[in-house]
Amino acid sequence: MAKYQIAWMPGDGIGNDVMEAAEIVLERLDLDAVYHHADIGWEFWCKEGDPLPQRTVDLLKSCDCALFGAITSKPKEECEKELVPELQNKGLQYSSPIVRLRQEFNLSINLRPCKAYPGNPLNYREGIDLVVFRENTEDLYSGVEFHPVEKEIMAFLNDHHPRMKRFAHHAPQDLAITLRIITRAASQKIIRAAFEYAKKHGYPTVTVVEKPNVLRETSGLFVRQARAIAQEYPDIELWETNIDAMCMWLVKNPENYGVMVTSNMFGDIISDLSAQLVGGLGFSASGNIGDDFAVFEPTHGSAPKYAGLYKTNPMAMLITTKLMLDYLGEADRAQQLESAIKRVISSGKLRTYDMGGSSTTLDVARGVRDLL
Ligand code: NAI
Ligand code: MG
Repeated sequence: MAKYQIAWMPGDGIGNDVMEAAEIVLERLDLDAVYHHADIGWEFWCKEGDPLPQRTVDLLKSCDCALFGAITSKPKEECEKELVPELQNKGLQYSSPIVRLRQEFNLSINLRPCKAYPGNPLNYREGIDLVVFRENTEDLYSGVEFHPVEKEIMAFLNDHHPRMKRFAHHAPQDLAITLRIITRAASQKIIRAAFEYAKKHGYPTVTVVEKPNVLRETSGLFVRQARAIAQEYPDIELWETNIDAMCMWLVKNPENYGVMVTSNMFGDIISDLSAQLVGGLGFSASGNIGDDFAVFEPTHGSAPKYAGLYKTNPMAMLITTKLMLDYLGEADRAQQLESAIKRVISSGKLRTYDMGGSSTTLDVARGVRDLL
């Protein structure tokens, strides 16, 4: 049996284009792996009423990790309209397969490295090497929301929190509540992952990004865990920054930062900001990592207008592939791949349209392959 079982999920649109690029590179790297095609995406919503069929979930359970391209999601009315006639008016609800994967496999660590590779004309500045650790399952994205806010809930909050009085006169449909839920366990997990990464890759600091001066309880709990865990890593300095200030610092001196760790929504914000500093969607890779399973995907979506045209940049997908190799413990292959990526970028000869060139997705992938 091969050493690794890897689920292969191109999904929709340019997900297919960039996964073909990944295939070209993985073939040359000769990883001892079997790749299992898994059905996911819009086609399966339309045909089967489920963009993440149960057979895919079952297949993933037998794999070490998954490599994923992108999916298409559409607004509610279009979801219903595009279903095959026999599935219409059955009350089927579309839900994002990637969000479901994160929940189903408890992929609580979202890892997003953002590195300015020398010679990339889209870099904001050279020398940027940021890595965002974003908690992936809780916080304002836990999904615990109220609207309308029923009278019993208002009464309960009124009884238990003096600040609630200010809102008590609103009618149930005139206010909405989203709970920010932060647990000690998930906070410790993401913070420890960030410190371990910093230790392994030689980053001198870890910056915890929250807002504990205002969000005293939730950010307070998170930052206290960071302070406690930092004690176990005497060689790494813990920096504490507020989310708003962090956005300014990242634009002002991004080179000063390295590993950052934060909760779900703030992580969503700083990871997009960090990605844009090093070239945007064509370079933005991510890993969703759980205890015994992980899904690796470029941050971009299915870019329908480019689907099948092989125009878009495969670098995000190739960097994603590098993250997967790191996760599997294939450090040599990961490093070889990254240095080939770097050389292709710095030579400037192979560039997709977003970098001002006219190379195809597969030209770039073959260029990377030829350096392996
Ligand atoms: P998108 O990321 O698909 O594309 C936005 C634009 O960014 C594209 O039109 C293109 O100009 C550029 N772009 C994206 N990837 C690129 C690449 N690799 N190289 C060069 N340029 C690139 O986002 P959009 O248009 O908002 O969404 C399209 C579909 O993708 C929607 O159905 C959306 O729901 C879905 N989506 C899926 C995601 C996922 O699979 N995780 C994430 C984001 C959107
Ligand atoms: Mg986002």
